[in-house]
Amino acid sequence: MGKHYVDGIADIVSEKVNIVDLISSYLPLKKTGRNYKALCPFHSEKTPSFVVSEEKQIFHCFGCGASGSAISFVMQIENLDFIDAIEQIGDRYGIDLDEYLVKKYDTKGHEEQEQLFVINKVAAKGFYNNLKNNKGAYEYLVNRNLKPQTMRKFGLGFAPDEWDFILKNLRKKFTDNILEKSGLIIKRDNSNGHYDRFRNRIMFPIFDIRGRVIGFGGRVMDDTMPKYLNSPDTPIFNKSFNLYGMNYAKNYLGDNKQIVIVEGYMDVISLYDKGIYNVAASLGTSLTEGHGKLIERYAKEVVLLYDSDQAGIKATRRAIDVLRPFSVRVKVLSLKDGLDPDEYVLKYGKDELQKLIDSAQDAMEYMLNYYKEGLNFSIKSDIIEYIDRIRSLFNGINNTIEYELYVKRVSEETGLSLSNLVKELKYVKKIEKENDKLEEVVLQSKDVKLYQRLFEIFIHERSYLDLLKKKHDFNEFHFKILKEVTDFILLYDEIDINKSIDVLSFEEIEMLKIAKNIDEYIKVSNGIREVEKMYFELLLSDKVRLLEKIKEESTRVLSNIDKDSSKYSELKIKYAKLQHDINSQIAGINKKRN
Ligand code: GTP
Ligand code: MN
Repeated sequence: MGKHYVDGIADIVSEKVNIVDLISSYLPLKKTGRNYKALCPFHSEKTPSFVVSEEKQIFHCFGCGASGSAISFVMQIENLDFIDAIEQIGDRYGIDLDEYLVKKYDTKGHEEQEQLFVINKVAAKGFYNNLKNNKGAYEYLVNRNLKPQTMRKFGLGFAPDEWDFILKNLRKKFTDNILEKSGLIIKRDNSNGHYDRFRNRIMFPIFDIRGRVIGFGGRVMDDTMPKYLNSPDTPIFNKSFNLYGMNYAKNYLGDNKQIVIVEGYMDVISLYDKGIYNVAASLGTSLTEGHGKLIERYAKEVVLLYDSDQAGIKATRRAIDVLRPFSVRVKVLSLKDGLDPDEYVLKYGKDELQKLIDSAQDAMEYMLNYYKEGLNFSIKSDIIEYIDRIRSLFNGINNTIEYELYVKRVSEETGLSLSNLVKELKYVKKIEKENDKLEEVVLQSKDVKLYQRLFEIFIHERSYLDLLKKKHDFNEFHFKILKEVTDFILLYDEIDINKSIDVLSFEEIEMLKIAKNIDEYIKVSNGIREVEKMYFELLLSDKVRLLEKIKEESTRVLSNIDKDSSKYSELKIKYAKLQHDINSQIAGINKKRN
């Protein structure tokens, strides 16, 4: 009985994953001109011919021919079937696939998970018991101003300075294999022994929403690095799904269903200790969609209370972005003097912090202020810059009242009229999207063959390339295939496909490869005229394709713009002129051909 997901699950998963991120977690990808490359993991090679295209979200090895999407990469490299591959990706990226399940299934691995829960529980108890007997650890927590009942509530403990505290105590009941899976012990590199992951650290058990221990964070008691060690992801612990402290916080969200999100363990615990209970932490990782889902399940309002250092500001902006699709109101609070929430509550007290939380700024407000930095609205170009910056923010607003409110605000601060502002925001948004598409090059197969033949000739009879280059300007082409590939050919005496990966696109590499590997080269029989004929043929196709693109784009772009706006008439004229220009170019080419 296998699992069954809805049709289109591959697209659903692919959309949420960037292939470059995913593959980078397996191999070091090097950014080249327009692609990323690496040594192919599927065959052995000395120079990289494995290429990843971010734009197309595919990978391809020009050496062994392996290719496909993010999902097929995981299938191939992890030796997984499709279902296991999407589930693994789902786990890692916090995509909850359960909602796309069609049928219920038998849970295999259920037993293993149960065992892992037990192991974590037993370990947490062991660490907790140590705390009473270890004066240094207990003192450390007292010095961090925590009450004993708070330490108990969060199950804080201590991992002694031994290599086998966990091993010693848990080996009787559990196999090394499952203990290793729990992340509590680590296999030795060179022998078959194991050792404890957490040693001489204050231990913070991490609870899931149901209060079960699923992992640990361990903090040193001095300035040693790393400050924190965390459990790795295991079958029951996934950082991108879990918010530390959410098991308690969810019961204290109050009438306005508000959750405060902080960065660290100590922030959650310290705020709880002082009487602010609706707090959870993303544990130093950036907020994920998985976190967003969890938050949305319980809360209506999120207050992002990150550290006010540069990293915290960046994390705040990312979190706002991540939370945008969820139906939660997002607010931001930055604390002065670079203090983190723990330090702030200790210095200024609970009431002071609670006041700030209650008056946190709306995320939109926060972002508008952020984008305003360094601009002066008495300067016209600064206003234009501002509108450019905030455009995507307005894209994200689905609520019309909110939209209107903020348009008004921007109108007031910049002095732009409301109607102009609305037009500008909409206008820019559409154009920007459309422009992306204009760069797409779809080659017709007859053109592909022609290009291949030309490259073949250039490789085998280079003098034709020199001749052609002397007579024609390859920049006449809008799509720069000819220029890019010939530049490459001219650079080397011997064509090396691996080197082309740095500079050429997928199609170009493929065409060049076929041209190079041709079995039997047929010589040019009719001199430069034959080559020139192909050149004109391709030039013509290039213009026709450009013309079609412009026609397509212009209808699309114009249909999205207010007909009364000055931009509309401006653009209409511009497109007509472009078409006219290209038509006369085509006529010119036809003349030369004959
Ligand atoms: P204190 O320094 O004890 O106040 O802890 P904190 O909770 O304030 O930590 P901090 O703000 O420095 O970091 C926030 C969170 O990021 C921590 O709670 C950890 O989850 C995580 N973190 C911090 N340092 C490290 C580290 O060295 N390694 C790992 N893996 N995570 C860390
Ligand atoms: Mn701190």
